[in-house]
Amino acid sequence: ILNAGTCEYLEIANYDSAVIENNISTNVVGTARCLDIALPALRRTVAKGQPATLVIVSSSAWWFPFGRAEGYGASKAALTYFAHALRADLAPEGIDVVVVSPGFVKTPLTDRNDFPMPFLVSAEDAAGRIVNGLRKGRNEIAFPKRFTWTLKALGALPQGLIDRMAASMSHKSRNEQETNG
Ligand SMILES: NC(=O)c1ccc[n+]([C@@H]2O[C@H](COP(=O)([O-])OP(=O)(O)OC[C@H]3O[C@@H](n4cnc5c(N)ncnc54)[C@H](OP(=O)(O)O)[C@@H]3O)[C@@H](O)[C@H]2O)c1
Repeated sequence: ILNAGTCEYLEIANYDSAVIENNISTNVVGTARCLDIALPALRRTVAKGQPATLVIVSSSAWWFPFGRAEGYGASKAALTYFAHALRADLAPEGIDVVVVSPGFVKTPLTDRNDFPMPFLVSAEDAAGRIVNGLRKGRNEIAFPKRFTWTLKALGALPQGLIDRMAASMSHKSRNEQETNG
């Protein structure tokens, strides 16, 4: 299970490309580097006739263009593409690739967030849902459903509508930040 990751938000007034680089470096390149070790191990497992599954923890955040999440969203979109393409390449070898796309989970990472997090679940709850999904043989595990279905539905709207909603959310969140200092 390749789970390590970071989330750095961009302050558009002080645009800094290092924020984009840090997210991509940890979440995409870091995961890709882990495969240098994980892939030979998975192949050895298959050679012994045992089931081999690679789990990549992505996020549902990139399904909608949230303000400040340029770096994080781009990294998780890239990571998910990476995982899906790996799934295609590794299927003939009998190695499964599972993508986990959580909503908000209460962890040290989200404890830093200064905005409301709808449908926040505990880390224990999230772990239970991941284990459940793996036991059922799912290759896509997304939760909590109320959050991920809403995001999926929003993401399927025409781009013009998405842009208006995203801009309005970003504007509201910036106003709240300024009010809260
Ligand atoms: N929490 C959420 O709401 C949420 C939602 C969607 C997806 N996710 C994803 O879930 C995964 C776990 O996040 P979390 O919420 O559990 O965050 P967390 O509590 O901050 O844990 C992140 C883990 O990643 C490791 N890590 C971070 N940067 C690293 C680096 N450069 N090299 C090696 N290890 C590094 C950390 O190690 P150290 O402790 O040693 O720094 C820590 O063990 C991440 O991929 C995150 O994007 C989280």
